[in-house]
Amino acid sequence: MRPLVLLSEGAAELRRAGLPSPEADAKTLLAHALDATPVALALIPTVDDDTELLFRRLIELRKQHHPVQHLTGIAYFRGVSLAVGPGVFIPRPETEGLVQLVLDWAQQHPDGSSTVGDHTRASANGTPLAIVDLGTGSGAISKALVTELADLGIPAQIHAVELSAEAYRYAQINLEGTGVDLRLGDLSIAFDDLAAQVDIVVSNPPYIPSGAQVPTDVAEHDPQLALFSGEDGLDAIRGIIPVAVRLLKSGGLLALEHDDTHGQCVPELLRAHGEFTRVNCSNDLSGRARYSSAERA
Ligand SMILES: C[S@@+](CC[C@H](N)C(=O)[O-])C[C@H]1O[C@@H](n2cnc3c(N)ncnc32)[C@H](O)[C@@H]1O
Repeated sequence: MRPLVLLSEGAAELRRAGLPSPEADAKTLLAHALDATPVALALIPTVDDDTELLFRRLIELRKQHHPVQHLTGIAYFRGVSLAVGPGVFIPRPETEGLVQLVLDWAQQHPDGSSTVGDHTRASANGTPLAIVDLGTGSGAISKALVTELADLGIPAQIHAVELSAEAYRYAQINLEGTGVDLRLGDLSIAFDDLAAQVDIVVSNPPYIPSGAQVPTDVAEHDPQLALFSGEDGLDAIRGIIPVAVRLLKSGGLLALEHDDTHGQCVPELLRAHGEFTRVNCSNDLSGRARYSSAERA
């Protein structure tokens, strides 16, 4: 069968099943079945029977709300690809904005928390920025940062922690060879050895109120530990604030992702703690208040 015919049949089935991105999903799944890139599909004349069978099976699984990333085993995040599957949170596009916030700050503070200036000084100085990623999941934030900071010529040492043993195994695969110091453990007691030595603490923690309704794909396939965080969704963030105070140098950055309904209360929590200055909330690309940041006083 011709790939474009198969593609339109698969997309039609996903559309009938009410999935939100039928064409894109079908394209990704057919490319995966063919072991090709989505752009190469137009160049492939025919699909053999085995591949067609595999594609139809993948479409069936997608109709049952298995995430596309679990079916392909790969998630893309900024410029990096990550191994993902059951047991680990699939990195979301919104979190790419959190990474951008950190990169922007790092470019303005290349020598660490108490300086502002031209990042070429970092190479001259050579002192790496110390960065901590709390709740690293697949390692998405750490892998993107290690890659992009290197491209910017900003030396950095990244430390990451994850509580779930299943997620940690994916992070191990994804961060292998990157130099990231990956640890298995609870973020609230992690990095005793780094007190007052860190320039940036970044986290995309769980932040959904327990009991809140989430889409089927999310409820059935993202780990509960990655999603829910107490009655108001703020337990993890309340726990992270004192950890950041303990880890950060004076002037260091705390950057958090949160729910768009928390655009006022997270900055309030940061101000109420009394150890931060320059508290700020910023929007994602669709204009929703998703990131709060502050500097250690
Ligand atoms: C929303 S997911 C984010 C994962 C990843 N940083 C990302 O952006 O794709 C939150 C992660 O925090 C982890 N986590 C939750 N509570 C934790 C804790 N107390 N200590 C360490 N990690 C924790 C979860 O297992 C999950 O991997």
